[in-house]
Amino acid sequence: MTFREDGAAALEWAARYLERVGELPVLAQVQPGEIRASLPASPPDRPEPFANVLRDLDELLLPGITHWQSPRFFAYFAVSASEPGILAELLAATLNSVAFLWRTSPASTELELLTLDWVAQLLGLPAGWHGHIEDTASTSTIAALAAAREATGGHVVVCSEHAHSSVDKAAKLLGLELRKTPADDDFRLRVNALDLTDAAAVVATVGTTSTASAWVCPELRWSQDGVERADSLVVNAHKWMFTPMDCSLLWTSRPDDFRRAFSLVPEYLRTSDEVDSLPDYGPALGRRFRSLKLWAVLRCYGREGLQARIREAVRLAELFEGWVRDEPGWEICSRRHFSLVCFRRRGSDQENEAIVERVNRSGELFLSHTRLNGQYVIRLAVGNERTTQEDVRRAWDSLRGAAAG
Ligand SMILES: Cc1ncc(COP(=O)(O)O)c(C=O)c1O
Repeated sequence: MTFREDGAAALEWAARYLERVGELPVLAQVQPGEIRASLPASPPDRPEPFANVLRDLDELLLPGITHWQSPRFFAYFAVSASEPGILAELLAATLNSVAFLWRTSPASTELELLTLDWVAQLLGLPAGWHGHIEDTASTSTIAALAAAREATGGHVVVCSEHAHSSVDKAAKLLGLELRKTPADDDFRLRVNALDLTDAAAVVATVGTTSTASAWVCPELRWSQDGVERADSLVVNAHKWMFTPMDCSLLWTSRPDDFRRAFSLVPEYLRTSDEVDSLPDYGPALGRRFRSLKLWAVLRCYGREGLQARIREAVRLAELFEGWVRDEPGWEICSRRHFSLVCFRRRGSDQENEAIVERVNRSGELFLSHTRLNGQYVIRLAVGNERTTQEDVRRAWDSLRGAAAG
């Protein structure tokens, strides 16, 4: 078999997968260790055809996949690897650029700067911010806090009690102390309660993790009030911006502080190129060509395509919220701003936990939970681009069925 034939088979596999992913159990129905036990313990001595890899992906690995691409994946946060994004990943792997200096892949560096500018325009961010891509929000947060430590000499990070654990981890790694501030009744950071003594940075979260992509829609931009006062901003394009994992966008209005924290040029990387070198803004030296997939999504969807998908997810979440609110015995637990609904069955935590366990085990949908005001709360995050009203309806029917026993 040639690369061309194997490639056609792989693409056919990908196309078929996307057609049937809605029929597969959303949460993998396997026991710990089961997948590993089904595979040889040692690598093959002799080369095998690529067809064997595809066959085993289908037969052995697929049962152990939790389907993030399923239209009924409602857990944690919403993601979709869109078709343009998937194809661009293949092309980026083909080029295999390692952009640690401008000259090692000028197009990669320049497209990254350009796409970050494009997304800044789409989200209505202030003009002139410097943007680059990291792998995940965890890394972006480490980078921003390292720059803050460098710029201020402070040793404390201030955040809300509801800040994501990646903030705790970044502070721990950087040797910074974390000061958590109580939230208000709406789970917002209480700005007038901040103790800024010795602070290097205040980390604020806008809504939930996916929220910032919603800024593509002008009617949802109320939540960005004051964004021009931020020194940096992280948005994961691999969440609600239809870009395959991983693609975390990090902008800063203080690029000099980032360079002071990260720029380090050994002799063997010294050049006369007078251009931006993106490893000067974060921990990694070698950088994948991540902007290619983001660029492909932006080109193939356009502003209108992004807006339509985000508006539909918000509409579906609103619909679901209405069903919960109107159903006796259920309650909404926090104000819904975008496409995340937090709710629970009126009853004990154990009862709610059992409902989630039951629907997840059924394979019909996948949900996760959190704790608000000490109570177990079920979360339904809508945002996969294939999710339809029928999927959301099926989720609600399953939940009601599970509650009825
Ligand atoms: C608000 C927030 N910050 C950070 C993260 C961590 O993101 P990543 O998995 O890209 O490190 C998440 C993940 O969901 C999140 O919701």
